[in-house]
Amino acid sequence: MAQEYKLKGVNSLALQPGEKQEVEVEGLGAKVLLLNAGGTVQAVGPRCTHYGAPLAKGILGTNGKLTCPWHGACFNAKTGDVEDAPALNALPVFRATERDGAVYITGDPETIKRGHRAPLFKCSAAGGDKILVVGGGSGALGIIEGLRGGGYQGGITLISNEGYLPIDRPKLSKALMTDLAKLQWRDDGWYKDASVDFVQDEVTEVDFATKTVTTKSGGKFSYTKLVLSTGGTPRVLPAQGFKVLGNIFTLRNVHDAKRIVDAIGDKGKKIVIVGSSFIGMEIAVATANGNDVTVVGMEKAPLERVLGEKVGNIIKKGVEAKGVKFYLSGGVEKAESSASNPSTVGFVHLKDGTKLEADLVILGVGVAPATEYLKNNSVVRLEPDGSLKVDETYSVVGLKDVYALGDIATHPYRGPGGEGKYVRIEHWNVAQNAGRTAASHILSPNRTPEFYTPVFWSALGSQLRYCGNTMASGWDDLVLQGDPDQGKWVAYYAKGETIVAMASMGMDPAMAQCAQLMSLNRMPCKTQLQGGLDILSIGPPHRSHNCAGDDREQMQTESMKSHETTSSIPGVLYSSTVFLIVIPVLIVAIYHLLFHPLARIPGPRLAALSNIWQGLHVREGRIHELAKTLHGEYGPVVRVGPNEVWFNSREAFKQIYCHRYKKSDFYLATALNRPIVDWRLNTHFPDTLDFLSEFDVARYRVQRRLIGPIYSTSHLRNFEPAIDGVVKAVISALTALDGAEVDLKEWMHIIAVECLGAVVLSWSPGYIKNRSDGGTSAQGYLGWKRKSIFGLFPTVTALSFSFKTLGRVFSNVWGVTFKTPKNFKPFFTPIYQKTSRRIVNALHRPVQPGLKADDRKDLLADLIHLHKSRPEFTETYLRRLAVTNFGAGHETMCSALTAIMAMIGSHSEVHCKVAEEVRRISHSLTYDDVVGLRYTQASMREAQRLHPVIAMALPRSVPHDGMHLHGHFFPTNTVVGCNPVALHRNPDIFGADADRYNPLRWLSGDDDARIRMMERTHLIWGGGARTCPGRHLADLVLSKVVPMLLKEFDVEITAMPAEKDMPCYFLAMMTGVKARFRPVAAKGSET
Ligand SMILES: Cc1cc2nc3c(=O)[nH]c(=O)nc-3n(C[C@H](O)[C@H](O)[C@H](O)COP(=O)(O)OP(=O)(O)OC[C@H]3O[C@@H](n4cnc5c(N)ncnc54)[C@H](O)[C@@H]3O)c2cc1C
Ligand code: HEM
Ligand code: FES
Repeated sequence: MAQEYKLKGVNSLALQPGEKQEVEVEGLGAKVLLLNAGGTVQAVGPRCTHYGAPLAKGILGTNGKLTCPWHGACFNAKTGDVEDAPALNALPVFRATERDGAVYITGDPETIKRGHRAPLFKCSAAGGDKILVVGGGSGALGIIEGLRGGGYQGGITLISNEGYLPIDRPKLSKALMTDLAKLQWRDDGWYKDASVDFVQDEVTEVDFATKTVTTKSGGKFSYTKLVLSTGGTPRVLPAQGFKVLGNIFTLRNVHDAKRIVDAIGDKGKKIVIVGSSFIGMEIAVATANGNDVTVVGMEKAPLERVLGEKVGNIIKKGVEAKGVKFYLSGGVEKAESSASNPSTVGFVHLKDGTKLEADLVILGVGVAPATEYLKNNSVVRLEPDGSLKVDETYSVVGLKDVYALGDIATHPYRGPGGEGKYVRIEHWNVAQNAGRTAASHILSPNRTPEFYTPVFWSALGSQLRYCGNTMASGWDDLVLQGDPDQGKWVAYYAKGETIVAMASMGMDPAMAQCAQLMSLNRMPCKTQLQGGLDILSIGPPHRSHNCAGDDREQMQTESMKSHETTSSIPGVLYSSTVFLIVIPVLIVAIYHLLFHPLARIPGPRLAALSNIWQGLHVREGRIHELAKTLHGEYGPVVRVGPNEVWFNSREAFKQIYCHRYKKSDFYLATALNRPIVDWRLNTHFPDTLDFLSEFDVARYRVQRRLIGPIYSTSHLRNFEPAIDGVVKAVISALTALDGAEVDLKEWMHIIAVECLGAVVLSWSPGYIKNRSDGGTSAQGYLGWKRKSIFGLFPTVTALSFSFKTLGRVFSNVWGVTFKTPKNFKPFFTPIYQKTSRRIVNALHRPVQPGLKADDRKDLLADLIHLHKSRPEFTETYLRRLAVTNFGAGHETMCSALTAIMAMIGSHSEVHCKVAEEVRRISHSLTYDDVVGLRYTQASMREAQRLHPVIAMALPRSVPHDGMHLHGHFFPTNTVVGCNPVALHRNPDIFGADADRYNPLRWLSGDDDARIRMMERTHLIWGGGARTCPGRHLADLVLSKVVPMLLKEFDVEITAMPAEKDMPCYFLAMMTGVKARFRPVAAKGSET
């Protein structure tokens, strides 16, 4: 039962993003870590769930990423969830409140004392998917925890030939540990609870065509997705004697460790270790006490290949202090048998003639990818080293539904200096993170994989920490800081100015800090570190730190300065240029950065200078991606322009939209009328009903009240037959395509325009017949690109109403002009003509005797009737609203339908459940039926949540008395707003898995309060007083179209670009998605 506990010695929650403090919980004898997780102050468990490192000594980024100081595990400090290996259990999170000068946390006492939280993995696997994981090591752990943690409910089978469940392999060489109870990460019961079938066997063959795996004992296992993580096979020396003599060992698993421990027996043995890399060095340290240990290596210094000679020698000194002897720069000639037992080793001969006595020999000479079972496979091509080439999602290149992880995977590296070059990294964390990445790809195929910094550690007398990687880039310089004699040093490996890797001893949390900085691409450059910069002095990792990039910019500015002073521009001209351009620009920049009322709001520096920053993101279509990442980096309040702030919190949502702040000047760009612009650039629009850009609140209210009854669901249901007619025609057209691949967006646009045509005008634009929308959706989208840029520059927009040339020049400068293609078939021209003709006939031409009156029962007829009965609904309003139905409805409905079909089609479990639900109804689906399809409705809303139609913040203006929020004051006229993309992925509102497509989150269970909060806190239909007036019309169309299509077709998504590759503007669309609508197989009949 949750209770409230006082925190000792804390009197306020005044922690800044990135600050943390370990504190005692009064009355419990336990501790918690109080921290500011990207804007939220709360408490979490204080110790890392891997080996228990104090997280107070770790690194907390301003985005809420908490990195352990020892081995780089990352937790999301907001949710406590594990983000990066090697931790498996999450941290519990406790709400913190401040009252009367004291701080309290609320939590269950046992959980507070335990300090960690096992993820809820209990699951009874259901559904048709079967994921087969081969290999029971680190990669397997990563994918299983990632899948079950991410809510995967299908079957998982794990086949391993190791003889036990996944263990903590790194411990083998550090302590020659053999006790399985201490080595196994999770016990048998845990795998059973998580519905993971464990099979002890060895895979000998894979048939990728039939999706079957064969094992040594003759078992056959089929899969829907195959995950290979079979690790490495230790190499043996080809030299004489090594393959035949006993007491020569390698170390990869517990069986090997047992053999070594048995051979050492009561100690006092002469041990020769061949290989001076990590495993060899760790075993030397682990066995040095009580034995005579010699390390033989080919390099000049141990670990030279990875760490360089200088650092290798520092480490060598520490290991020598443990009594270990070294023979380096040499090679091994042969192994000779012992005099007393000819079958076991007795001596090792080196190439320089040295003869070393040996009771046992341990080989640490590297591993080869364990892929023997694929050697003769005709489908897969192994890399020259025997590994499998994978992409960033760890999908094997050239194979469908196959992933490879860990030591057998050659993958693109995007860390510092990596530039996507392919590398194979043998680290525990890399294998496990690869597993998590692959799991996330299986769960959400269109999610962009996140970069994690490779981290490695080793016990070499003292603890060595290492992060980054030099394989892709190599390195050409080393910056060594600290005092190696004191065992406290940091080595930075540089390629040019870029720091590509670092190693440290005795300097925690330097490695954790570098790992975070590397993942943000914010490591300082070589010159800064050579100048003595202490990496920890930088403070919590944050986007705007001094960084290689900034520094290079600074250096460029410096060189430009010196160039300017020696330039040949005549002095007078030079100084007047400076005064006229540079000085004012500088003054404005300094004002915006330092003295502006928003100067203290976090955000990208360049954004504070000008809206050009946001404009560039819009122009490149990157606004969806920006929304996804920006708050993670800067917290819930981010300055995105000199006068604009984006928020991502419930509080902000309530404040801005429920308090009905007015629309900002952004909406000048979407105005349908030309305003009068006065000398102060104030705009005055005529009263024509332009809902989206209406700035006059009183007018707007009257207009909305007038149309309310017509746009209510009860009234709109009259148009159900019109929608049915369109969908039936679409079904025939798609059936005739017989599963051919189509552009999903174009077809959803065809449906949207045809439905609007049928409902509003009883008319068809002929798109279904032509199987094409005549290029209108693509064209309309370019228009949104242009409007989105103009919206960011309202002064230019206001001026360009009067000076058309200015608008044209501005469009050219921004590259947002576009031409109409030749085959373009606009639908607005016929719409204008048809509505106008009908309105004129109805209002101004009395019906001729003998001629039939217009008896069409569509929405336009209702609007005409409204005008007749309520003259305040003027003819101008009538004409405008008739067309607005199309203007505001065609792209929004297309966007929503595309998102829904793309998400359902790309999530097989969801598709199955929706299909099962809709196909249960045997008659033609009515609106009453479809509102009862709870899972289907949830899957639609969930798609709209992840892919809202608006991808920029819905901008509003702070009223005259200013706004206080999140501890900041925002003066009047500050542009504020929540970005739907960010808000809809906010874990505080939508749960820890907010990034995931999971329709079940909307269905009641034990968390109804959360569902109510989600239902209240989203922007799918806009916010507050300005929510979409066409919502019920859109909802009617969506609710009918989606189930009707899925009743007839299986939707298969054949191409889905990554989210970052789908350009998005103020209006957002999933573009480039291809699909096949496969008619559901006709049920068997007797004939
Ligand atoms: C002794 C030792 C100490 C290490 N210490 C560290 C360290 O301190 N830090 C660090 O970062 N890294 C360390 N490593 C490296 C790290 O353990 C590996 O990089 C990591 O385990 C790779 O994970 P994986 O899933 O690719 O393979 P593994 O963890 O090796 O798992 C492979 C699994 O596949 C099974 N298998 C193989 N072939 C088949 C088959 N045909 N059928 C069925 N099962 C099969 C194996 O039995 C095993 O269970 C160490 C490695 C060793 C051996
Ligand atoms: C699935 C389809 C639709 C979605 C997701 C949707 C969503 C939205 C959103 C988010 C807004 C707020 C925009 C803002 O504040 O800047 C909005 C406004 C609007 N929508 Fe819709 N819409 C849809 C369909 C329609 C349809 C069919 C109509 C036809 C009448 C329509 C008419 C409007 C109008 C007129 C506005 C402006 C309202 C205002 O600013 O006050 N929409 N819509
Ligand atoms: S103790 Fe935290 S990662 Fe190992």
